[in-house]
Amino acid sequence: MTQTQSGCPMSFDPFGEEYQQDPAGALAAARAHEPVFYSSELDYWVVSRYADIKEAFRDTRAYSAAIALDPLTPLAPEARERLASYDFAPGPVLVNEDPPLHLRRRKELAPPLAADEVAKLEGRIRDLVTRYIDAFASRGHADMVDDLLWEVPAIVGLLVAGVPDEDVERARHYTIKMGLFTWGKPSAEHQVEIADQVGRWWRLSGELVDRLKREPGRGWVPRAIEVHRQDPELVNDNHLQNMMMSGLVAAHETTTNATANALRHLLAEPGVWQALGEDPSLIPNAVEECLRYSSSVLCWRRTAVREVVLGGVTIPAGGRLLLVIGSGNHDERVFPDPGRFDIHRPNAKRHLTFGVGSHNCMGAPLARLEMRIILEELTRRLPGMRLVPGQEFTYLPNASFHGPRHVLTEW
Ligand code: HEM
Repeated sequence: MTQTQSGCPMSFDPFGEEYQQDPAGALAAARAHEPVFYSSELDYWVVSRYADIKEAFRDTRAYSAAIALDPLTPLAPEARERLASYDFAPGPVLVNEDPPLHLRRRKELAPPLAADEVAKLEGRIRDLVTRYIDAFASRGHADMVDDLLWEVPAIVGLLVAGVPDEDVERARHYTIKMGLFTWGKPSAEHQVEIADQVGRWWRLSGELVDRLKREPGRGWVPRAIEVHRQDPELVNDNHLQNMMMSGLVAAHETTTNATANALRHLLAEPGVWQALGEDPSLIPNAVEECLRYSSSVLCWRRTAVREVVLGGVTIPAGGRLLLVIGSGNHDERVFPDPGRFDIHRPNAKRHLTFGVGSHNCMGAPLARLEMRIILEELTRRLPGMRLVPGQEFTYLPNASFHGPRHVLTEW
């Protein structure tokens, strides 16, 4: 049973159907009465209000990011063995690093993902999206996930990493559902299956880094290779392979799910799709509202470095925190009438979906650009698109990575 300050039981199952279908609703009582509570089932302190989540994100001296990528469901021994058979050696990749090293590395590695740099990819991304839409536009129906959203962010992630075009074609077939490994509840058998995919990705990442070392290109891995040559201690070989691998994971499922969530909600609201088609200048704020209303990353994690008081609750040193972004984004203290989906919401951009502070998502400009382009092209080409009526949106049980497995549309 979950222990709360007030003594009243606070139930929270991050894999349960209630949370999968309505993450913010599942923590509504917590936000109102018990904003920070300890879950003994999870052995995590669950943080549900906007201000507390923001504080934990920002205060890098009190809260460490080191556990950010640890599997939430401990790995079965057979999955560990399988990973070891690929010489898989996970290491630091910014998101799970602490100061002062984190800031030194980030300063060196960030430039290729800055907004003005990724803006240069707009033409290539638009061509890519156009090619995918061409393949189904005359069909009259599509599954937006299978036909468009699974592959486009993976390919864009490879491009921005600096992977040459020939290898993009090969690498896109290796894409994995890594979110399930880190945030899901896979059975031991399923873990072994994913471990094989992870292992293959790991090896391929090593090959891609080797090629980029021989044939320098542009992008964030080539930049990391440059830094490695200047300062091999700041960025070593293991770090390069981890960056290639985890960078693609960071860029892929997050954006696929964010755009699938966006389409689901934009198409469900009467008149919104047509309004975006008639006035594309509404799209950037609509993207922010989609990211707020239905975040593709529902939770993030920190550990208390020392005893801390958060939301009036004392958390011991070493206490692990589950920062529920999907709940903070629906905090009525910041977003009036938070359950209303409103593409004109003035402060939609204040959402927590990309984190806050020194670790905030380095890929946010790219994710925003991709989402904008996809919405611009779809609303322009398929103004009459609607959701196939009666479909049920299903989600793989996952505490954080959140997006419908399919979004069936017709026109
Ligand atoms: C909608 C899509 C995305 C979402 C929701 C998302 C979300 C996040 C979140 C929550 C964090 C952790 C923030 C923190 O600890 O404070 C993060 C970090 C990061 N993301 Fe994203 N992300 C997205 C897309 C991308 C893309 C496209 C890339 C790469 C091209 C990317 C690269 C990174 C990197 C490198 C970090 C680590 C930054 C650091 O720790 O300094 N992300 N992202």
